[in-house]
Amino acid sequence: TTPGPLQGRRILITAGPTREPVDPVRYLGNRSSGRMGFAVAAAARDAGARVTLVHGPCELAVPPGVQAHAVETAAEMHAAVLEALEGTEVFIATAAVADYRPATPAAQKLKKTREDLTLELERTPDILADVARRVDGLAARPLLVGFAAETGNLREYARDKLVAKGLDLVAANRVDGGRGFGHGDNSLLCLWPDGERELPRQPKDRLARELITLIAERLQTHPAN
Ligand code: PMT
Repeated sequence: TTPGPLQGRRILITAGPTREPVDPVRYLGNRSSGRMGFAVAAAARDAGARVTLVHGPCELAVPPGVQAHAVETAAEMHAAVLEALEGTEVFIATAAVADYRPATPAAQKLKKTREDLTLELERTPDILADVARRVDGLAARPLLVGFAAETGNLREYARDKLVAKGLDLVAANRVDGGRGFGHGDNSLLCLWPDGERELPRQPKDRLARELITLIAERLQTHPAN
């Protein structure tokens, strides 16, 4: 068999939602199914890569041949990513990580004794931004790929994320009007510092293969290659 475009490359991928505990039985979550990230993991494996997948709670089977770590919260996902980071050549952040979590989760189940309830939230770690900070300036700096979930101004917000987080590639998707989260198909507007490519709406497994082809191309021009 001919070697794939990512033959032997070490790829780290995040996928799915996170769950942030409110009390022992409740959490704050989101509508990510994990399908996009799991499809990217399978496509990277098929391209010859050694794939590590750090994922939040999803009802999906781990693609055979992929090394998976299941986590629940943003903090756990952050720790698992840092633990797997060494030697990574491409980091792809498809996870829908909670941006806020309850500041002090209750140790006991909250009782409905009051008419209203206010939850105080605090920021979670930004995993992708932290990875970008840690690898900045390294000779073997991995190629950093972020996703951007937007409900409008797709190109503008995605370019902002590319620059603000110091990324090599951003894959932006619209998540309004029944698109993105949870659905079987998706489309991506991919931006890098001096170019862009639109990957048209199609099933997530095929879309993931097109994204992996683009990532393999970008890797060719990556300084640490
Ligand atoms: O799982 P599916 O149902 O298939 O849906 C796929 C998807 C819509 C979730 C996926 O295609 C997608 O868009 N993922 C990113 C969702 C997101 O949270 O985007 P964002 O614009 O808020 O974050 C920007 C980037 O920073 C993302 O790469 C995200 O993984 C990363 N991030 C964000 C916050 C945080 N605390 N840590 C992060 O690493």
